[in-house]
Amino acid sequence: MIVNKIESAINKQMNLELHSAYIYLSMSAYFDSINLDGFAHWMRLQAQEELGHSLKLYDYLLEREGTVELTAVKAPPAEWKSPLAACQDALKHERVNTKQINVLMELAFAANDHATRVFLQWFVTEQVEEEASASKLVEKVKLAKDDKGALFILDQELGKRLLTE
Ligand code: FEO
Repeated sequence: MIVNKIESAINKQMNLELHSAYIYLSMSAYFDSINLDGFAHWMRLQAQEELGHSLKLYDYLLEREGTVELTAVKAPPAEWKSPLAACQDALKHERVNTKQINVLMELAFAANDHATRVFLQWFVTEQVEEEASASKLVEKVKLAKDDKGALFILDQELGKRLLTE
């Protein structure tokens, strides 16, 4: 069994991961609309990863005999003023997500819920990677600046991304 406080926090995190998936899917549609297909592909895979993260939390709740509560997912923006603005938003969002994972981890510690603490370790590690890849993306877009050729090469590079976890 899982205590109510942790159950509710995990449900909240599940919602945040679904919101993340929405954000990245919306970014994917935005990049598609400006013909940056590689960026669109990268964002779409990111949305799939986020869905995977929410399902990890979903499965964990069920395993611990918790109750899954699917609440309304906040709508993401539909467009951004530039590729850089979208990528900066992605990084900002990942930083928020890291904060929330840390809050969840602290709750697990306070409740002596070692199973949840061990489970959350995967998310702590994942967030390091998530922030690093979003940050790298921002820096690469900054390097390209207004150089359409550089943006085109970056777009091709991002188009090669493969789905991981
Ligand atoms: Fe599920 Fe991008 O963190």
